[in-house]
Amino acid sequence: MKLSIIGTGYVGLVTGTCFAEVGHHVICVDNDVNKVKLLQSGGIPIYEPGLEELVKKNVAAGRLSFTASIAEGVEQSDVIFIAVPTPPQEDGSVDLSFIEKVARDIAAAITSYKIVVDKSTVPVNTGEKVAETIKRYCKSKAEFDVVSNPEFLREGFAVEDLMSPDRVVIGVRSQRPVKAMTEMYEPFKAPIIVTDINSAELIKHAANSFLALKISYINAVSAICEASGANVQEVANGMGMDARIGRRFLDASLGFGGSCFPKDLSAFIKIADQLGQPFHLLKEVQRINENQMARFVKKITDTLWVLKGKTIGVLGLAFKQNTDDVRMSPAIDLCQRLQKEGATLRVHDPKAMEKAKAVLKNVTYVADMNAVAEGCDALVVATEWPEFKKLDLNRARKALSHPIMFDGRNLFDVAEMEKLGWIYKSIGR
Ligand code: UDX
Repeated sequence: MKLSIIGTGYVGLVTGTCFAEVGHHVICVDNDVNKVKLLQSGGIPIYEPGLEELVKKNVAAGRLSFTASIAEGVEQSDVIFIAVPTPPQEDGSVDLSFIEKVARDIAAAITSYKIVVDKSTVPVNTGEKVAETIKRYCKSKAEFDVVSNPEFLREGFAVEDLMSPDRVVIGVRSQRPVKAMTEMYEPFKAPIIVTDINSAELIKHAANSFLALKISYINAVSAICEASGANVQEVANGMGMDARIGRRFLDASLGFGGSCFPKDLSAFIKIADQLGQPFHLLKEVQRINENQMARFVKKITDTLWVLKGKTIGVLGLAFKQNTDDVRMSPAIDLCQRLQKEGATLRVHDPKAMEKAKAVLKNVTYVADMNAVAEGCDALVVATEWPEFKKLDLNRARKALSHPIMFDGRNLFDVAEMEKLGWIYKSIGR
């Protein structure tokens, strides 16, 4: 099939590439001319495991191309995906101006029947607005259908998630686009659920908020574990073996972050408020997340006392493993809080140092994770990169003025660390 994807961020670029990989012809559109040039010359603007190879392969096969012209994308495709950002506004609601602008641009370019698919995360009832807008601005009066098809990929596992999704959600207003949509997804061999548009839009916000709730739940349990001498990992393992609960997303941490959970949670709370159905439970999820970071900082100040004049080594800047993304990263938030307390920082991340430099100033960026501890008073683990488990603990112990580690991701074994002579403080253990 012939598809165009408008917006080449994480979702748009990976979606377009994976559709090309299964045999469709895909044009990726972006209004950032420099980004388009970079992609046309074989460059990739983001780090995502496996993506670069797939882009190269599909460009070479003639199934994937890039343009800055929406008109070109619309003209040459039967299905048009909207995958532009829906950033948060100050009051927590979603800024839909990019969606609205793209809807108008699509309307101006349509001359024959098209399926317009919203992939961006949007508040419930947005599909109706998109349909209204296209109808209003479409001079040719060509027919079209609007479909909601939310994306559930995780950064760092985006290719894997797209190639083998748990499910594909297709929200429609009529049956007309269903056949094309199901055929398009057929190669992914995933269960497909067809709903109305409003339900499809709600599924995305409800799912992300539920996952955030799961993390806040275990983080609240971690505080009780600390107060009572229990071990949160054992509690999570025991809970997770109940198939109704499941073990995933029960890893206690210094809190969730990233470009999705905090934004989607705020948006869902706002939507519920606007619909006159305040969702107090989700407000508590947010509060627990903020409190979890404050509790972690307190652990550090309780142990080191005065941070002014002390140097702290921080392992991890990305909001989670496998990504160079630092948007709403708990690790960056932590660094800034430690700086506010007067600490000097030496920091390292396997992939996110370049992006971190734009937001985290006055720190020493260290290329080798094993060199971070040099001249430091303590080490902090802020991101769950698996390579941190291979840290040369002996070298770090000798480099530190005192062998103190604060582990915000529970990467090391408590008994093992204590046996090695560390003062080791983690989460909920
Ligand atoms: C999330 C959803 O998982 C995905 O389905 C949706 O499409 C976009 O939002 P993503 O933001 O890429 O994906 O990250 P995710 O892997 O969900 O992690 C989010 C945050 O939660 C990270 O900061 C992570 O470190 C944290 N987390 C995750 C925990 O603290 N504990 C856990 O058990 C799991």
